[in-house]
Amino acid sequence: MATKTESHSCALFKLDRAPSNKVTLTFDDEPISAPEGVSLAAALLLNGVSPFRTTPVTSAPRAAYCMMGVCFECLVEIDGKPSCQACQITVREGMNVRRQLGASALELTAEGEGHGQ
Ligand code: FES
Repeated sequence: MATKTESHSCALFKLDRAPSNKVTLTFDDEPISAPEGVSLAAALLLNGVSPFRTTPVTSAPRAAYCMMGVCFECLVEIDGKPSCQACQITVREGMNVRRQLGASALELTAEGEGHGQ
């Protein structure tokens, strides 16, 4: 039986490597830094960013939820490209990230495929 003095650890919350180098990026023109190799969503959460976006219909605030590419609550604009899933993208030096407010504009190509702007 475990006692209060025994050391318990949970692998879920352990770093799997030594602390890494930092990268610097911007969120809404403010510089932030994050450990190299983490997802953009993790980097934003580490820096206290919330919300990541607002919804198109009611402008309700949203931030990362599932952290595995399922919920789409983490959409942000990266280097001018809207609707990027922050939890699926690794941070990189110089990344320019913006909060996505409402729906992104669509640009139709000759083939009829929409591309957000
Ligand atoms: S946090 Fe759910 S898709 Fe990114």
